[in-house]
Amino acid sequence: MKLAVVGGGSTYTPELIDGFARLRDTLPIEELVLVDPAADRLELVGGLARRIFAKQGHPGRIVTTTDIDAGVADADAVLLQLRVGGQAARGKDETWPLECGCIGQETTGAGGLAKALRTVPVVLDIAERVRRTNPNAWIIDFTNPVGIVTRALLQAGHKAVGLCNVAIGFQRKFARLLDVTPGEVHLDHVGLNHLTWELGVRLGGPEGENVLPRLIAEHGDAIADDLHMPRAIVDRLGVVPSYYLRYFYAHDEVVRELGTKPSRAAEVAAMEKELLAMYGDPALDEKPALLAKRGGAFYSEAAVDLAASLLGGGGSTHQVVNTYNNGTLPFLPDDAVIEVQAKVDGTGATPLAVPELDPLYAGLIGNVTAYEDLALEAALRGGRDRVFKALLAHPLIGQFEYAEALTDKLIAHNREHLPWA
Ligand code: G6P
Ligand code: MN
Repeated sequence: MKLAVVGGGSTYTPELIDGFARLRDTLPIEELVLVDPAADRLELVGGLARRIFAKQGHPGRIVTTTDIDAGVADADAVLLQLRVGGQAARGKDETWPLECGCIGQETTGAGGLAKALRTVPVVLDIAERVRRTNPNAWIIDFTNPVGIVTRALLQAGHKAVGLCNVAIGFQRKFARLLDVTPGEVHLDHVGLNHLTWELGVRLGGPEGENVLPRLIAEHGDAIADDLHMPRAIVDRLGVVPSYYLRYFYAHDEVVRELGTKPSRAAEVAAMEKELLAMYGDPALDEKPALLAKRGGAFYSEAAVDLAASLLGGGGSTHQVVNTYNNGTLPFLPDDAVIEVQAKVDGTGATPLAVPELDPLYAGLIGNVTAYEDLALEAALRGGRDRVFKALLAHPLIGQFEYAEALTDKLIAHNREHLPWA
């Protein structure tokens, strides 16, 4: 089995390698190709990757290349984890929206739109190259904004599934609080990527007992602390929102907060420098603890599990993924991409049925889906007016004056990545 990781020079990659090494019975990889245009980073990350495999006795071969076509050729699955423009572009996404009193975040709001515009054309080009050598290859998209990018891939006819670590993070957290194994925890996870709620927490599987009320009663403080939200929100809703909902439920507070501290991109850039220095040490042969301070914890487990199921191996039968709605949420178009529990096997992901949603959640999901629709239009076809409409449609922007000003800022800060601008 051959797997390729595009964006393989990411400082996150050792997390993934660690997952591949530990879970090698689930996913028997013969060749793993790390593809990245940044040759220097790639060599540092590739060196550590080989040492992790060697230490854990993984027989697979790790190849590094800057040549995308050679890298993805004949791969059975390709994992996309790239960041167009790197942390520098992310830093801008997190900053200029604040000038209008709007959230500066890499996937939510105007910053998220900028990221979508930079990313969708690049990802579609890569997917086309993958399809040329192996039309049956699975594309696992971890590249943000995952909902919009996955929809772009599916609309272009690719075999793609979108992945995020928010759900697996909750699964691990709840398992610890309940003192059970993560595999025993099934989440009723519903929404769009980075706009989800845990409506139930079941023991044993989709039909298991819902222990969420007990979990909130007994551990509400710990759960709320992790979300940086007051416990009252969790108590009043009776469900657990993802921490991305804080940008909605506490928008003004977060804007004030963001204005007083360095951007997350700056924090991450400093951490990346430190991580790369560590990766260059030939004595290091495991993922360093510092990596746990990144937001992507557990994504390796989620990625291995998903790849194993898609490639017909021994992954979990139910996983939270991003895929076409196809009637699951009846108030959305079939070709909207949602993030829900799905049955996953060699044929792909099929969402499990979701009970009728409270308008409290359905309303926001519908609104953000409309934004994502317009955002994808803007990413595929370009043009100031399409950018403006997507911003106007976003529930965190909405006002004409802000949408106008943010459109100009978005274009000015991203010109080098937008061929039409
Ligand atoms: C979480 C999200 C990812 C995001 C990451 C950012 O894992 O699910 O989509 O990329 O956080 O983490 P970072 O350490 O780069 O801020
Ligand atoms: Mn995510």
